[in-house]
Amino acid sequence: MELLKPEEKGLKRAVEILEKGGLVAFPTETVYGLGCDAMNEKAVERLFEVKKRPKNKPLIVGVADLSQVYEIAEVNEIAEKLMRSFFPGPLTLIFKKKKIPDIVTGGSKKVAIRMPAHEIPLKLIRDLGKPVVVPSANISGRFTPTKFEHVIAELGDKIDAIVIGDCKIGLESTILDVTVFPPKILRHGAISVEEIKKFIEVHEEETREFEEKFTTSAEIYVFVGEEKEKMIRDFLSKREDAIVIARKDIYGKTIVVGEKVEDYAKNVFDALIKAEKMGAKVILVEGVEERGIGKAVMDRLYKSAKKVFHS
Ligand code: TXA
Ligand code: MG
Repeated sequence: MELLKPEEKGLKRAVEILEKGGLVAFPTETVYGLGCDAMNEKAVERLFEVKKRPKNKPLIVGVADLSQVYEIAEVNEIAEKLMRSFFPGPLTLIFKKKKIPDIVTGGSKKVAIRMPAHEIPLKLIRDLGKPVVVPSANISGRFTPTKFEHVIAELGDKIDAIVIGDCKIGLESTILDVTVFPPKILRHGAISVEEIKKFIEVHEEETREFEEKFTTSAEIYVFVGEEKEKMIRDFLSKREDAIVIARKDIYGKTIVVGEKVEDYAKNVFDALIKAEKMGAKVILVEGVEERGIGKAVMDRLYKSAKKVFHS
């Protein structure tokens, strides 16, 4: 595996590797992605193997300009409106597919597309001259990587290169299916439903069943509501080996994720990965208000938790 700096030489090398059908991890504005040429079926097949991803779970396709969207998908008016407002950015749209290998879409007739708001993937896609798949750079079911160190630890010996860089948001993109009316939210992310509703009508439904839970070696308990502090303290008094993830260091043995909800979002996966690496058997997580990006934070916590305590 080559560790590449995000400079001209490093990015040129990354493009060379992509051209040969290699697998390259890189930062995006959401989380770390694992890319390969979306039109190269052999490369995509290897990517599925490396990620241990079920063959029927489709990949998001990353594009660098709108003409690439029109080449691979059927674009309706609603999608056009949303692309004008949110591309590039942390919104993935699901379209009827046109020209993209079946392996990429897991056999589905729909294709998920996003345009990352990050200069590294944009440059890689532009210089390759073809769309690049952009799944998260983790083994299927494991926590989502937000730092290059996470990718080294999990996939370092299985992929060809990692470009070093920063993921500003820390949570995966919002996913919206625009093939149905009204469009349907499939995953909460940095672009909130409220923001999308300023432009179009949205069908909001329980999305938690959409993706399976994260597989962890620790028992994760999430605490929400007014009494969460007290409940965490009570739990800690019984389980002294527990590690806490919280916005402030008020419990002792705490991995601090920051007071602003944006900081929480950016640091939460890193905190979970750290706590697991420390060998924690029990992780107690202080929840946040389910509003704006807090909704996406809580969604990921629910997908990690053995149990959620409400107060
Ligand atoms: O922010 C992100 O979206 C990151 C960055 C790296 O781009 N990528 C990401 O990919 O989160 P991944 O593979 O971890 O999650 C993609 C989700 C999966 O749950 C997949 O089932 C869904 O998108 N998906 C992809 N194509 C789909 C399709 N055609 N129909 C329905 N769901 C689809
Ligand atoms: Mg993922």
